[in-house]
Amino acid sequence: MTGNKPPSRDILSEFWAPVCAVGSHDGRGPNAQICVSVLGASVVPERPRLLVSLWKSNYTHELVTGSGTLSITVLSEAQAGLVEVLGMRSGRRYDKLAGIEFELDDEGDPTFPGAAGRMAGAVIDSMDMGDATSFLVAVRARERDSAVAPLTRWRMNELLGPGFVEQWAQIAAARAPHYRTQMSWLEGG
Ligand SMILES: Cc1cc2nc3c(=O)[nH]c(=O)nc-3n(C[C@H](O)[C@H](O)[C@H](O)COP(=O)(O)O)c2cc1C
Repeated sequence: MTGNKPPSRDILSEFWAPVCAVGSHDGRGPNAQICVSVLGASVVPERPRLLVSLWKSNYTHELVTGSGTLSITVLSEAQAGLVEVLGMRSGRRYDKLAGIEFELDDEGDPTFPGAAGRMAGAVIDSMDMGDATSFLVAVRARERDSAVAPLTRWRMNELLGPGFVEQWAQIAAARAPHYRTQMSWLEGG
């Protein structure tokens, strides 16, 4: 009997956020990266907060740390192509946003039209995780297109195909040794 048995996936994958683009800026202009580490962190409706974890080696991390603001675009399926543009290479040395349609919020942080949702946020606090920083973010403005479904990571893999999945696995594997030396972990672990 197969019934409605859910697919067998690592339980940790249930904690991946919808695929988001996190943006920020400095005096040179805006930049954005892909992020699936975004989690709701408030029960007070008029004070919405999110936890957003960014790897320290990312240019966007530097921009968020410097400006104290960030934008979050919850990507739609039609925007899956942005994952390859924003998530596979750093914008530190070239303008990743050149040729992409984007809008700047009041702080100068970029969001991407055609999304399931867009938010503007300000950093309240942060936790150093060694290899990454978890930013506690106050959501100052938000909009939702209820006709557009958020892009899940599984659907992203289907849309971008096995070539993308393999390439991302290779990038992650190549970075892991460095992060292993930097990350906070249990003593003696
Ligand atoms: C599917 C996917 C998920 C990702 N999730 C995260 C994440 O949760 N946090 C993070 O810091 N980087 C994440 N990344 C990696 C960044 O998007 C990537 O390192 C990007 O090139 C950084 O760009 P920047 O240096 O211009 O900021 C993800 C990338 C992909 C493709």
